[in-house]
Amino acid sequence: MSRSVLVVDDEVRLADVLAAALEDLGYRATAVHSARAALAELEQARFDLVLTDLRLPVMDGRALLREVRSRWPEIPVIIITAFAAVRDAVDLVKEGAFDYIAKPFEIDDVSATIRRALRLADIVRDNERLRGELEGRYSFATLVGNSAAFRRVIEQVTEVCETKATVLLNGESGTGKELVARAIHFNSPRRDRPFIAVNCAAIPETLLESELFGHVKGAFTGAVTNRTGRFAAADGGTLFLDEIGDMPLPIQAKLLRVIQERSFEPVGATRTQTVDVRLVAATHKDIRRAVDKGSFREDLFYRLNVFPIQLPPLRERADDIPLLAAHFLAELAEAMGKRATGFSPAALAAMTAYDWPGNIRELHNCIERAVIVAKTQTIDAPDLPQDLFSSRRGERDVLPRDLDAELERIERDFIIEALRRSDGIQVRAAKLLGIAERSLWHRIKKLGIKLGRAIAD
Ligand SMILES: Nc1ncnc2c1ncn2[C@@H]1O[C@H](COP(=O)(O)OP(=O)(O)OP(=O)(O)O)[C@@H](O)[C@H]1O
Ligand SMILES: [Mg+2]
Repeated sequence: MSRSVLVVDDEVRLADVLAAALEDLGYRATAVHSARAALAELEQARFDLVLTDLRLPVMDGRALLREVRSRWPEIPVIIITAFAAVRDAVDLVKEGAFDYIAKPFEIDDVSATIRRALRLADIVRDNERLRGELEGRYSFATLVGNSAAFRRVIEQVTEVCETKATVLLNGESGTGKELVARAIHFNSPRRDRPFIAVNCAAIPETLLESELFGHVKGAFTGAVTNRTGRFAAADGGTLFLDEIGDMPLPIQAKLLRVIQERSFEPVGATRTQTVDVRLVAATHKDIRRAVDKGSFREDLFYRLNVFPIQLPPLRERADDIPLLAAHFLAELAEAMGKRATGFSPAALAAMTAYDWPGNIRELHNCIERAVIVAKTQTIDAPDLPQDLFSSRRGERDVLPRDLDAELERIERDFIIEALRRSDGIQVRAAKLLGIAERSLWHRIKKLGIKLGRAIAD
């Protein structure tokens, strides 16, 4: 679509000629003869650019520029000025005009300046959109859930994100600890500063200290250069200490010092460094128990536990399962270019009844697999992993109506699972189940298990 330019000049003929020339260059141009008329046009329609004379009666180009800058900051303004007033025009560039053009001018110069202005406006707009998307990804809008248990989490996140308080996230694996940590950072005043994550369980004890605090050249074998640690990298931002329950005691002591004194020394260094870092820590462990056992420092626990947030397991927010499932389905189908649009009632019932030991991550993986295997637009129960049907929640509280059929179902599920884990190799499957290969073979026949299907499923 062609770009629209608003031309403002009290010399009627000049404005009209300029507008016609711009039309010839492929723009949609509107000519007006006063700043007031320009503002009226801007209120009516969207313009991509304003081209205005500096000297206008009543309200001049400077006043118009200010008005446009404050009300439509995304619209670039180019000033046209008589040669004698170029100095004023330069001032206007300082006030936010994109550029100025001195009279008399060649239409080519006008056209080149307009093109530059529009290109820059595009870049700024794209940048803002990307930024918006990036922030959108982490804002509360990404935290899907409407159950009472999850609304409590959102409330706590809202309460704490504006502050600098240390947050301790506790929850089973896959309950969204990292996602919540990011939401806290990206909704905090530190959002423009770094978010740095360190998984304390994934880094060997010998390296964790230098990972967190950095080291100087020659501090230990292998330290061939100076290295900045994660604390320094997160300066001004947020440091996410994941699996804090696995942090070795000596490093806990050093962490305690950073929290208390806001300073640390890189490994092998003599100079102390200060940092301004907001801490968010997470663990799936019961740290209080670890304190009782002596594997976690009590003083550090109190320092971290300033604002604890407990993330509920998915089985305790079953109301959210359909919502999350639909959210992942839309996201994954789009990413994979599939047309899957919804779930059959049987599939939804199975998902809601399952207890999701791997929580939201497991649900995400389940939907991902279903989107791949589903042959129709609706995801049906057979598209879901077998696990959903082999350990139904609360099963043990209910007596089976037909014990033999129930035992057969359990036997079949175990055999299919063992075959799947052993790629269909029966000797191995038998070993996994602790039975003889012959016995496995008999059972497969008795239960009518189709080998190809069992493994492919
Ligand atoms: N409320 C939510 N809404 C949408 N997606 C979520 C939500 N919570 C978690 N997820 C998604 O679930 C997955 C697991 O979340 P995350 O990695 O944050 O969990 P975690 O608690 O850090 O797990 P672990 O302890 O295993 O590291 C991610 O793909 C995340 O985007
Ligand atoms: Mg995690």
